Amino acid sequence: PPDGLSPPWYPTPKGGTTKNWAESYKKASEMVAKMTLPEKVNISTGTGWMMGPAVGNTGPAIHVGFPSLALQDGPLGIRFADNATAFPAGITVGATWNRDLMYQWGNAHAIEARKKGIHAILGPCIGPLGRAPAGGRNWEGFGADPYLQGIAAERSIRGIQDEGVMATIKHLVGNEQEHFRQQYEWGLANALSSNIDDRTMHEIYLWPFGDAVKAGVASVMCSYNMINNSYACGNSKLLNGLLKDEMGFQGFVMSDWLAQRGGVSTTLAGLDMTMPGDGLFWANGKSLWGPELTKSVLNGSVPLERLNDMVTRIVAAWYQMGQDDEKNFDRKGPNFSSWTDDEKGVFAPGSPTKQNEITVNKFVNVMGNHSKLARRIAAEGTVLLKNEGLLPITHDGSTPSSAAKQEDPPLRIAIFGEDAGPGDGPNYCKDRACNQGTLASGWGSGSVEFPYLISPDEALKKAWDSERVKVTTHLTNSPTFEKQPGILKEADICIVFANSDSGEGYVSWDSVKGDRPDIFLQKGGDDLIVKVAKGCHGGDGQVLVVIHTVGPVVMEKWIDLPNVKAVLLANLPGQESGNALTDVILGTVNPSGKLPWTIGRTLDDYGEGAKILYKPNGLVPQQDFKEGLYTDYRYFDKFNIEPRFEFGFGLSYTTFKFDNVVVKEIKAKSPLPASRPQDFASPPEYDTNIPDAKEALFPTEIRKLEKYVYPYLDSIDDIVSDPYPYPDGYDVKQSLSDAGGDEGGNPDLWETYVKVSVDVTNTGSTEGQAVAQLYLSYPDSTEVDFPVKVLRGFDKISLKEGQTKTVTFNLTRRDLSYWDVYSQNWGIYIAGKYKFMIGGSSRDLPVSGTW
Ligand code: BGC
Repeated sequence: PPDGLSPPWYPTPKGGTTKNWAESYKKASEMVAKMTLPEKVNISTGTGWMMGPAVGNTGPAIHVGFPSLALQDGPLGIRFADNATAFPAGITVGATWNRDLMYQWGNAHAIEARKKGIHAILGPCIGPLGRAPAGGRNWEGFGADPYLQGIAAERSIRGIQDEGVMATIKHLVGNEQEHFRQQYEWGLANALSSNIDDRTMHEIYLWPFGDAVKAGVASVMCSYNMINNSYACGNSKLLNGLLKDEMGFQGFVMSDWLAQRGGVSTTLAGLDMTMPGDGLFWANGKSLWGPELTKSVLNGSVPLERLNDMVTRIVAAWYQMGQDDEKNFDRKGPNFSSWTDDEKGVFAPGSPTKQNEITVNKFVNVMGNHSKLARRIAAEGTVLLKNEGLLPITHDGSTPSSAAKQEDPPLRIAIFGEDAGPGDGPNYCKDRACNQGTLASGWGSGSVEFPYLISPDEALKKAWDSERVKVTTHLTNSPTFEKQPGILKEADICIVFANSDSGEGYVSWDSVKGDRPDIFLQKGGDDLIVKVAKGCHGGDGQVLVVIHTVGPVVMEKWIDLPNVKAVLLANLPGQESGNALTDVILGTVNPSGKLPWTIGRTLDDYGEGAKILYKPNGLVPQQDFKEGLYTDYRYFDKFNIEPRFEFGFGLSYTTFKFDNVVVKEIKAKSPLPASRPQDFASPPEYDTNIPDAKEALFPTEIRKLEKYVYPYLDSIDDIVSDPYPYPDGYDVKQSLSDAGGDEGGNPDLWETYVKVSVDVTNTGSTEGQAVAQLYLSYPDSTEVDFPVKVLRGFDKISLKEGQTKTVTFNLTRRDLSYWDVYSQNWGIYIAGKYKFMIGGSSRDLPVSGTW
C-alpha cells in the first residue's frame, strides 16, 4: 500500500472447509473434543529452546494419544543430525529446472527425516524470493522468479508429504534480506518492515505460497519481519485474510523462531503455533503463550473457539500425513539429539534443572543410496555458461577442439584455488558460517553436518586416464605460481575455482553479515582467475573457470578474456560436489542446468529495489518495494538492460531447435473466475464454555524443569474475567475473498484454459536434456501496466541425436491472470492478445503463438 500500513482482517477463518482435508478434520475434531485446556495449549506452544531433541518440539496431549511433535530444519537435509545426507541446496535444485528431481529431492529428504523420527521438516524455503541478489538466504530457495519457486515448492512438498512427513513452507513473507530481519540480532527496537503493495504481493511474493497451499502443505512459517508495519506473525491481513481466507490454507501457521511479538494479538491474527515456545528471548522459559495462553482463555481474552481452531489445524495436519498410523510413523520421536554428538545426554539440555542421562543419539544411518540422487541433482544443477571448444575433456584428454592421439605427450591439467580443495573439512565452522575450502552450502539454520564432502580436487585427480592426463593441484588463492612460474607455464589446461558465500543473519563471516556486502567473488577470486588466465601456458593455455556461489556474481573482470574458454557455475552442490562436477567436465553428464536468476554486469543493473538496506533508516527500518513487479529479469526487460547471462540461460554439449507452436483454447476467456464456491464442509463445532480453571493447575505428579514451557498455572487465584480489548477493526465483518473458496484459492484459478505445445529437436551430435521455457506477454494495454514477459511454463526432456519430442504446457487461469486491485480478484485481460514465447532461455525465444 502506498501508506505502508496493513489493514485489519478478523476473525481467523476456521480450518476444515475443504474436501481434501475433510476426513482428517473429522478425526481431529473427535480427538480435540476430548482434550483438556492445558493439552490444547501444549500442542500449540513449543517447549522452549533446547527443551527436547529437535530444534522445535511441542508438548503432547498424552491422555488422548497425541504425541510431542518434532520439527527440524531445514530445506537441504536434516540439521544437526549424524548419518544423514547433505543434499544440494535449493538454488541448485532450482537450477536443474527438472520437476522430477524437485520431487525426488523432497522425497529423499523426507525418508531420512521420518527414519530419524521427525514429524515436520522446516522447509522448503521460497521466501526470500530473491529480490536482492545479495540477500543472505536466497540460496535456500529455488531462484528469483515466483513461477519457478512455485513449481519447485509444489513438487518438493509433494515429495515430502507423500512420505508422511509434514512440509513447512517458509518464510511468509517479505523476508528479503537478513539485515534487520528481527531486532535482537541487530540491536534495534524493531524489525524491518517490508512494504509491499497489493498487486506485487499477489503476483510476486505470495504467488509461490499459492502453489504450496494448493499442494496441501501442512504448515506455513511466518517470518520475522513486518509486512506493511505489522509483524508477519501478528499480521491479520496476511494470516487471516490472504492465507486462510483467500488461499484457503487448511494447515497451521507456526512462527519463525522468536518471531512472535505479542500474545493475545497473534492468536487473533491467525498464528496457530509458537516456536520454539520461549517468548521474546531465547531459552528464558517466559512464553507469550504456554501458561499465558491458558490464562487468556480462562479470562476470556482469547476466544476458546480460536484455540480450538489452532489445535484442530495441528491435529488435522498430523492425521492428514497419516502420522497416527504406527506402521508409517514411529511414535518414539527423534532418535538423535540436535544438541550433542554423544550417545548419552539429557532430555532438555536447555534447562538448568539436573536431569538423568539417557540415550539421545542412536546414530541411525538413514542415507540409503541418496548419494546417487545428490550427485545427479548437483550435476543437473550445474550451469554451463561459456564453452569455446574446451568441454568436455574426455577420459583420454580429448576436447572438442583437439582429439588426443596416442603419440601425444600427456595433457597437463593444473587446478587452482582454495575452492577446489577440502580446506579444514566441511564442518569446520559452526552452522557452516565461514567460507573455507570448497563451497557446497551456504550457512545458517538451512545448513547441515556433512557426512562427507567430495571436493573437486579429490574427484578430478582420479577422473582421467593417468597415462594420458597429468593433474596437479594448487589449492590456495594466494598465487604461489608467481614465485614458481613453471606451475602455470607448463599447464596446457588450467581449471580455476572461485566462490561467493552468504547465510543467515545470526552469524557473520568476515564482512558478510548474512547478506553479502556486494556480488563479487570472495577471497580474491577475480584476481586469481585473471592471473591464471594470463599465465596459463604462457598466456595461450585454455582456462576453465568453476564458480560455486549462493547467488549471482559479477564476472566482468575475466569473462571476455580470450583464453577463458569455458565457465561452469556449479551453485551449491552438497556432499557429492566433486563427483558431480567431474561428470559434467568429462561429459558423462551433458550439462542441462539453467540460471535461476539473471547475472548482471553490475549490481546497479538490477535496479535500486535490488539493493540491501544496510543501515537502518528509522525506528522501524522501512524497506519500500517500490520496484513493484520489476525484479530480476522483469527489471532488465523493462529498462532494456543487457544482462551478462540472462535468466534461464545455460548451454549444453548439444544444440536444440524449437518449432511448431500450437495454441489450443480449452476454455474461453472471461475477465473473472467463476464465483467463489460454497465451502465443502463446515468447520468442527465444539463446546465453547470456558472450562473450569482448576483443570489448568500444575499437576502435582510432574517434576518441573526450570525454564521448560508448560501449559499449566501455579495459581488460578488471579483469574478474573477480563476480555482483552480487541484490536481495531476486530468487529468489522469481512467479506470473503472472491479469489478464495478452496485449498489454493478459487478452484477455477487452477483450471487449464489454454494448452500450448512445441516441438523440440536435438540438432547436435550427442544425447542431451533440453529445458523448454514458456514466457507469456500480456495484451497491450494502456490501463494496466504489464511486465514485458513472465515465465509460465517449463519442462525438461531428454533427446537423442536427431530426436524430436513434443512438449505441452497447460496454462491455468491463474497463469494467465494478473491481480486486479479494483475487483480484488485475479483477472484475465480480455481485450487484445496474449503471446506465448518459447525457447531455451528468457532471451532466446525463437517461436511463439497467440491467444
Ligand atoms: C530461521 C528458520 C529456522 C528456525 C529454526 C530461524 O532462525 O529463520 O528458517 O527454521 O530458525 O532453526
